[in-house]
Amino acid sequence: MNQGVSNQMNQEKNKMKVLVIHGPNLNMLGKREPEIYGKITLDEINSDLKNLGKKLGISVEAFQSNHEGAIVEKIQEAAATQKGIIINPAAYTHTSIAIRDALLALDIPIIEIHISNIYKREPFRHKSLISDVVTAQITGLGIKGYSMALNALAEMI
Ligand code: DQA
Repeated sequence: MNQGVSNQMNQEKNKMKVLVIHGPNLNMLGKREPEIYGKITLDEINSDLKNLGKKLGISVEAFQSNHEGAIVEKIQEAAATQKGIIINPAAYTHTSIAIRDALLALDIPIIEIHISNIYKREPFRHKSLISDVVTAQITGLGIKGYSMALNALAEMI
């Protein structure tokens, strides 16, 4: 193999990759309770994050699922491929020991994000089952929280 090809392969291998995980009902952003979550769609959030990633030299993969097991499997795969995770587990924040356990198996920075301030809402939203196992939590800054999370990860990885 020539040097150029091998350098290119190493660059590809070492490329900074960040996975953004969106939990249940976040595919409905824009339509869903816009007074709480705003009018921006998930596609817009993802494409803004990918553009920001390009500026930061980070390749951003976005994943959304309404299924707990699918999110667990995606987190398990991330161990081998990703340098950091941004996760909004949505309603699973408050219920999923399975997502917590999957995150616990990772050794990369993880930022938990919520569009709304979960501590200013109904009492059942005040408890996050992942907040004590993630690197940091951003809550209540609207969708700006996603770009803040990516900027923060860029400094950590
Ligand atoms: C949310 C807050 C959760 O309580 C809720 O179930 C969501 C979204 C947020 O981004 O503010 O679906 O995670």
